[in-house]
Amino acid sequence: MQVTFCRLRTHQWCFILFNVILFHALLFGADFLEEYFLQSLPHVDLKVLEIKDKARKLNMESLRSNPSKYYVLSQSDICKRKNIFLLSLIFSSPGNGTRRDLIRKTWGNVTSVQGHPILTLFALGMPVMVTTQKEIDKESHKNNDIIEGNFLDSFENQTLKIITMIQWAVTFCSNALFILKADEEMFVSLPRLVEYLLNLKEHLENIYVGRVIHQDTPNRDPRGQKFVPLSEYSEKYYPDYCSGEAFVMSQDVAQMMYVVFKEVSVMVPADVFVGVCAKIIGLIPIHSSRFSGKRHIRYNRCCYKFIFTSLDTMDAEISLAWMEINDGKECSLFETYYGLISCKLLTYLDSFKHFHMGTIKNNDMYLSN
Ligand SMILES: *[C@@H]1O[C@H](CO)[C@@H](O)[C@H](O)[C@H]1NC(C)=O
Ligand SMILES: *[C@@H]1O[C@H](CO)[C@@H](O)[C@H](O)[C@H]1NC(C)=O
Ligand SMILES: *[C@@H]1O[C@H](CO)[C@@H](O)[C@H](O)[C@H]1NC(C)=O
Repeated sequence: MQVTFCRLRTHQWCFILFNVILFHALLFGADFLEEYFLQSLPHVDLKVLEIKDKARKLNMESLRSNPSKYYVLSQSDICKRKNIFLLSLIFSSPGNGTRRDLIRKTWGNVTSVQGHPILTLFALGMPVMVTTQKEIDKESHKNNDIIEGNFLDSFENQTLKIITMIQWAVTFCSNALFILKADEEMFVSLPRLVEYLLNLKEHLENIYVGRVIHQDTPNRDPRGQKFVPLSEYSEKYYPDYCSGEAFVMSQDVAQMMYVVFKEVSVMVPADVFVGVCAKIIGLIPIHSSRFSGKRHIRYNRCCYKFIFTSLDTMDAEISLAWMEINDGKECSLFETYYGLISCKLLTYLDSFKHFHMGTIKNNDMYLSN
């Protein structure tokens, strides 16, 4: 092996080098481009200044003295007199107490990173069944970590859920510097995320960060569940927005969003809704490819020590990831490098598989019609 390597001519070495570079460019190129070149400048005009001013002067006193107007369970005192670096709101479905328990025991159990306090709460709407509500009451009594808005927690009400929870953060937790919205299907590595936010510390304001979706188009098919009529959103493309599975905003952004909520149609998907609000307040979302967005990242210890989130993680995977992330064993540069290549390649292969299965399904439907 060694002998043949030594005999390679210069042009053969060049060829190998070229392939190695090409391989890396294909694998990481998109992330690099997205992160460094797709950033445009935020715009500031008179309207934005006006919104900023209104946000600074927000008075939430009436809501603070009457939380039951919007919340069945309000946890209205939980943030009081506390330093909070990151408020992590996990969007959960009312009936999924088992998933909440798993998160409490694993990644949701982090209360501080490098001395920066984290508060993790579950965000719910109301269940259909009275028996489920009884269980939630019990769970809430035991854990004191559930906010429940007084709207029905349905697919159609997800935008309302975001509005209600941002309103909660602005009203009852305005001392939290950052707010994370994450779905219960996610695995989130809070330590890595906090480290990242600390590096942004020069500017604690105007942060809206996640996996940015660029030039997404509204669904104009009236039969689709996510149908958006022209009357509700008339432009061809949505503005850039952070994919809804997990994203972070700073407190001032939450306050400004609260000011402009009423200007935006709630008929668009919940994450797009946040993006449209961000556009109105002149914000450019910050992209990081360490957020998984809609993808499940194949498990690999060193990869999971690097990324922020992964979607659709199985119970066993969450427990394993949590155990191995906290085992104290560091990953060397090479191990991290190898881990990233491996989990990225496997994740790409998985998405091809899904895509392929999707097309087969569509063809089947076509044939049976
Ligand atoms: C969760 O955190 C608490 C307090 O820090 C600790 O006592 C408990 O052992 C942790 N549980 C797990 C499963 O790590
Ligand atoms: C959204 O929540 C409201 C308030 O609970 C409820 O009246 C409405 O039916 C819900 N919408 C859907 C589509 O579930
Ligand atoms: C709870 O959440 C998990 C993870 O998203 C999901 O697989 C499971 O089906 C959910 N269970 C219920 C009862 O909603």
